[in-house]
Amino acid sequence: MPVATQLTIEQSQFLQQSFQESLTRWNRQRLAPAFPDDFSAARFDDDRAMLRLEHAFIEELRAQVRQAAASAPTDPDGFVAWFEALKHHGPGQHDRLFPWLAEQADRDQIRWFLSQEAAGEAGFDDLVAMTQVKLPDRAKLELARNYWDEMGRGNARGMHGPMLGQLVQILDLDTRIENTVWESLALANAMTAMASARHYAWHSVGALGVIELTAPDRSAHTAQALKRIGLSNAERRYFDLHAVLDVKHSRDWNDEAIRPLVAEDPRRATAMAEGALIRLHCGERCFDRYRAHFGLA
Ligand SMILES: [Fe+2]
Ligand SMILES: [Fe+2]
Repeated sequence: MPVATQLTIEQSQFLQQSFQESLTRWNRQRLAPAFPDDFSAARFDDDRAMLRLEHAFIEELRAQVRQAAASAPTDPDGFVAWFEALKHHGPGQHDRLFPWLAEQADRDQIRWFLSQEAAGEAGFDDLVAMTQVKLPDRAKLELARNYWDEMGRGNARGMHGPMLGQLVQILDLDTRIENTVWESLALANAMTAMASARHYAWHSVGALGVIELTAPDRSAHTAQALKRIGLSNAERRYFDLHAVLDVKHSRDWNDEAIRPLVAEDPRRATAMAEGALIRLHCGERCFDRYRAHFGLA
């Protein structure tokens, strides 16, 4: 796989703490259920300005991956094989951060890592819900099944979001925006941008699919770290669950969403490849920053 051109972070107006914090705050505000009186005419101007910036942010990330994505096959079998290979050779895969977390990090180091990850979690359930709007039936059904699992199949105790929320409480994690590194905010903001803007819908299918593809390995290491510092089975359930369930989610996403969507329109393969690579590069930047924080760089 061709090596993507590295973005010079100093040259980017988007890969910065202040911009990512403001994008995070805007996303929270615009996606929160509200009343008509909560809206003012000034919001139109604000939303328009932020939409332009969000778009430019994603276009900058696209520019970084476009060449590599263009080399992905656009036939269904070839594309799925290319996509699945990202698990082994994609950006940020097999980062040494994770074995270190599993085997060596102390409790506070694990708490800091999880604070960053939890604060940068955009809500997989909502991303799937936004992405599925107007998708072709077969893909829509797969996103619905995945969403239903996120919802604990109708059982509140099995909902994935609150399960992570419980862990935040148990470990008393600080998830305030201003204490979250921009790399982690950027990951959540990129996912939200792709899921909410319809012209990035295929990018979002690829980005969500690559999360399912690559999460089990990281989740297993994180679960091992939590076990080592004494958390019970129930307390580390979120990571134990994703270490196993996402293997199935990934297989089904590739078979039932990606493959038929590409068969219908090969241009979607390139868009999904870009989305997946954008997500993996965002993750890679997080791992680099976390390792620097821990002095492992
Ligand atoms: Fe989940
Ligand atoms: Fe999943």
